[in-house]
Amino acid sequence: MKMIALGCDHGGFELKNEIIKYFESEGIEYNDLGTYSTESTDYPIYAKKVAKEILDGNCEKGILICGTGIGISIAANRIKGIRAALCHDVFSAKATRLHNNANILAMGGRVIGFGSAVEVVKAFIETEFSNDERHIKRINMIED
Ligand code: RB5
Repeated sequence: MKMIALGCDHGGFELKNEIIKYFESEGIEYNDLGTYSTESTDYPIYAKKVAKEILDGNCEKGILICGTGIGISIAANRIKGIRAALCHDVFSAKATRLHNNANILAMGGRVIGFGSAVEVVKAFIETEFSNDERHIKRINMIED
């Protein structure tokens, strides 16, 4: 598995740390692009940093966290080639990998508990794209 890019604002800082603990316990490689404290900051900064790592080919997938996951996913989805999925349950995380080939998982640090969030992360990073023709066609329609 290639590197996972991580980014958050102050609302996602604590959850990002929990995900880092999980990655370290599993030996999963990651690139932590900040923020590095709970000091107030602006989520589009981290959406752009994580998107760039993916588009440059340095990371295969990304995880973005703000308070709700909404602002940071909206920001990421403005960038061509990025498909950021806001998921707070395992079913959606699996489905968005299978159907949308989402390359970023977005979550809200003020929405989901740490234990559930790690399960969502696991589902997202372990599920491969289905490669089904109908899904490829629809993804191409988004990009065109
Ligand atoms: C920051 O207070 C908050 O607005 C941000 O983390 C996020 O929830 C925005 O969508």
